[in-house]
Amino acid sequence: MGQVHVLDHPLIQHKLTLMRQVETGAKDFRELLSEIATLMCYEVTRDLPMEEIEIETPICKCKSKVITGKKLGIVPILRAGLGMVDGFVNLIPTCKVGHIGLYRDPETHKPVEYYCKLPPDVEEREIIVVDPMLATGGSSSDAITMLKQRGCKYIKLVCLVGVPEGIQKVQHDHPDVEIYIAAVDEKLNENKYIVPGLGDAGDRIFGTK
Ligand code: PRP
Ligand code: URA
Repeated sequence: MGQVHVLDHPLIQHKLTLMRQVETGAKDFRELLSEIATLMCYEVTRDLPMEEIEIETPICKCKSKVITGKKLGIVPILRAGLGMVDGFVNLIPTCKVGHIGLYRDPETHKPVEYYCKLPPDVEEREIIVVDPMLATGGSSSDAITMLKQRGCKYIKLVCLVGVPEGIQKVQHDHPDVEIYIAAVDEKLNENKYIVPGLGDAGDRIFGTK
């Protein structure tokens, strides 16, 4: 079963509280999401392998650590995942960014695929899928399936707000994938929105409602 890491750092929780508030406008919402994504990136990359290399400081030669191992790829689920990309790329400027487009059908609430563009060497990379919302878990689970169908073996999922149902769906479908999340909320409402949640993340980022 994939581990679930709840990232409850005070800075993340404080910024998330501001994001949840209905009066927070698109500009602040976007900035807060990007800041939280940077803070989450710090934790998500904590287990990256390191190696020692020989360097020379102004004082002497010495050994010092650098990140080694697989190259990284960030894959936002469109649209709302786009709001987390900058936060990751700020800290990992050499990573490649792929895009997976999924929308939830308003009737069935099931994800519908409409776009997929990934780096050509995606199967060799460690992939970090980002999407602020983990509601039924359908979108995240399908995005991970699409990546696995293209050969990806090392995948992490990073979400802002989820519910137990969505976490369990991803754990059931993809027991090899670790989930990083800032808050696990109570439940889904009749429209499959997270309660209390923060509303429709895509609409709040892009001001489309
Ligand atoms: C939202 C969100 C997730 C999905 C979560 O996207 O960004 O991708 O819903 O719901 P699920 O866990 O039940 O699948 P939405 O379909 O609203 O598209 P958008 O990002 O373009 O607004
Ligand atoms: N998608 C969102 O943007 N918000 C929710 O609460 C559920 C799905």
